[in-house]
Amino acid sequence: MELSDRVAIVTGGARGIGAACADALARRGAAIVLTDILSELGERTAACLRATGHRAVFRRHDVSEPAGWDDVVQYTLGQFGRLDILVNNAGINLPKTIEDVTVEEFQRVIDVNLIGCFLGMQRAIAQMKRTGKGAIVNIASNATQNVVPLTAAYSPTKAAVANLTKVAAVHCATERYGIRVNSVHPGPIATDMLTGGAAKATDIPQVRQLIGAIPLGRMGEPAEIGEVVAFLASDSASFMTGAEIFVDGALTISMMK
Ligand code: NAI
Repeated sequence: MELSDRVAIVTGGARGIGAACADALARRGAAIVLTDILSELGERTAACLRATGHRAVFRRHDVSEPAGWDDVVQYTLGQFGRLDILVNNAGINLPKTIEDVTVEEFQRVIDVNLIGCFLGMQRAIAQMKRTGKGAIVNIASNATQNVVPLTAAYSPTKAAVANLTKVAAVHCATERYGIRVNSVHPGPIATDMLTGGAAKATDIPQVRQLIGAIPLGRMGEPAEIGEVVAFLASDSASFMTGAEIFVDGALTISMMK
């Protein structure tokens, strides 16, 4: 069990890619603190992990709130005594063009997708550097490269997450903290963000067109992101830091001019 002595926080872990990351880490032996704003679902997801013999707890947490991060880190230390892995997965999408998006909407997407990731990295680095070891995986998106008009708020936040990942990676490496920081860039993945709710992203012709252009001929599954995240979080990826890993069925590379 590659991660049996490790403790991980996974944000936005109640469902979708976050739940799959938690599952992949737990199957390798890590203890998991799942966080989300969806309390009922988060409790259920953690209970499912426990029911299959894993160590997992849920904590309600809005990633955009600094005090919430302090609480989650303290809670993690209280439950499991250490913090080794952080998966900054929580994110929101708002399908609006630059003409339609309001400043309040734009700000909220920045607060959750970028500020949430920044706060998580800052809190995790402070903790991990004490033990001289840690791995942070930030969930960015193929939207850093494949832009469509309706990603006016979403896409810039993910590009900033990718950039901040590299800044943090170089900082931690230079300081010899033993902390690696990488970003994973999923292509279209079958989750609520893409296919659920009243305003499904797959109802948007441009999104359908993007899915139709995936060379592998299908959307990805959350577990296919979870496996890559678990690898990056493990010592098998010991020389990887500051990397951008696209997990997108070759979508991005096929669209490059
Ligand atoms: P999802 O909507 O199913 O899951 C996102 C989770 O984050 C939800 O459980 C939600 O409650 C939680 N969340 C939202 N705001 C939060 C906040 N302020 N604090 C804490 N938790 C919060 O979506 P999915 O697809 O699982 O997305 C996970 C990550 O993957 C996101 O960062 C997303 O941008 C990224 N991504 C998803 C792709 C896809 O095609 N599904 C493609 C590329 C990136």
